Amino acid sequence: MERIFIEQAVKKVGEKVKLSGWVHNRRDHGKIIFLDLRDKTGIVQTVIVPDYAQVYEEAKKIRSEFVIEIEGLVKERPQSARNEKSATGSIELEIEKLMILNECQGLPFEINKDSAEVNEELRLKYRYLDLRTERMKNNIFNRGKIVKFFRDHLDEEGFLEVETPVLGKSTAEGARDYIVPSRIYKGNFYALPQSPQQYKQLLMAGGVERYFQIAKCFRDEDTRGDRQPEFTQLDLEMSFVRQKDVMQIIERMLIEMVQKIYPQKRIQQVPFPHISYQEAMEKYGTDRPDLREDKNDPDLLAFCWVIDFPFFEKNEDSSTGWTFTHNPFSSPKPEHLEMLMAKKDVGQILTTQYDVVLNGYEIGGGSIRNHQPKALDKVLEIIGIPKKRVEQEYGHMLEAFEMGTPPHGGIALGLDRVVMILQNESSIREVIAFAKNGEAQDLLMNAPGEIEKKQLSEVGISLLATKKAVKKSSKKA
Ligand code: AMO
Repeated sequence: MERIFIEQAVKKVGEKVKLSGWVHNRRDHGKIIFLDLRDKTGIVQTVIVPDYAQVYEEAKKIRSEFVIEIEGLVKERPQSARNEKSATGSIELEIEKLMILNECQGLPFEINKDSAEVNEELRLKYRYLDLRTERMKNNIFNRGKIVKFFRDHLDEEGFLEVETPVLGKSTAEGARDYIVPSRIYKGNFYALPQSPQQYKQLLMAGGVERYFQIAKCFRDEDTRGDRQPEFTQLDLEMSFVRQKDVMQIIERMLIEMVQKIYPQKRIQQVPFPHISYQEAMEKYGTDRPDLREDKNDPDLLAFCWVIDFPFFEKNEDSSTGWTFTHNPFSSPKPEHLEMLMAKKDVGQILTTQYDVVLNGYEIGGGSIRNHQPKALDKVLEIIGIPKKRVEQEYGHMLEAFEMGTPPHGGIALGLDRVVMILQNESSIREVIAFAKNGEAQDLLMNAPGEIEKKQLSEVGISLLATKKAVKKSSKKA
């Protein structure tokens, strides 16, 4: 007999079926034993009666979270014994055959309760158990549905998914890089991408025209509820577009995703309101305002676009120099291009940057790029990058822009944040299958960890004597 999923059993009344899964609960009622069996599709009540002596004996050993395979008859429950709240509440399965596939010796926390109150370090250490709980399962399953929706939708819109390298080059993008030593070129390092920004622009130079990727990004910065050292972007880039084209594509995709996967949720305002950076700061004191009319409503979604950001801001450490606010590759608003070329009123120049904000979180950002080498050169001049470094770090981009690169622009959504908000969670850790803790540790695998001396010498690295001990766990989140 072939195994079926629990959700399918409801349609099999009067038939014999085979089910496999985890024992969610076990209840002894005198001679009768009830086992609630769980698989990824649901939970069903099963009954063991003494008539099947062997099964009955075996069932006495069974505890919560044993993995079993059973065969038996699907029976309709009498009206009085039905559970209207459960999708399988109208049936039960009378077990005729039972096989224990794996035992469970004890658990650090209960699976059949919400783990929200359990110590988070413990949940991260035993993440595979945490993923069995109802809430975590829903978070991960719905994340999968959202990603699938984005992929299908973008495919229909003519986008191609292209993978870009993870072993890349260190580029100034605002955060600190994670670096990987090279064995072949000792003393040289790859950097893990903070985003696929340069590669996606080079794909536009490569004629792809509409690119997207579910991309892993790495930033060595302080971890918070909405920030992880390793996170996922829905990254995209388009050729021959203006600001409004990219914004429309994203807005339409977000609306359709909510309608399809979260029909119970209400989007407060469509089209999404547009707010200038200046207005946001003056009115709300932040560039990611929470515009919800009712902040107690878990099903209300207030999206907005924040636009007209200043291109440059004064350096934190000196009042003389300028730095970019978002991205050196952005183009200024077309009407401000002249100011950029003349390096006039630098603080007044606005960029084509657009951020998409949801319920007070920045869930994405992008811009139209500066595909004219002269204009990009000017940006690099204003932020004071010496000619030699420009050559080293941006030479390949400037060169590409001199060989027929179309005008282009794009955006990246922070996938973890999007899922977090839609799942009504307050930390992205709740929607990442194997999240790191607040101190950038993977408590399940114990990473970061020490490596063999041999591995170090192979890449030509010797450690300084003062090594900072890595704590095995921490309370800070
Ligand atoms: P940006 O740096 O704004 O833009 O990143 C895009 C979106 O990614 C999310 N995000 C994060 N999520 C979790 N943890 C983090 N540490 C983290 N950092 C960022 C945010 C953010 O809005 N290359 C540009 C995009 C572009 O211009 O096309 C970029 O990376 O939701």
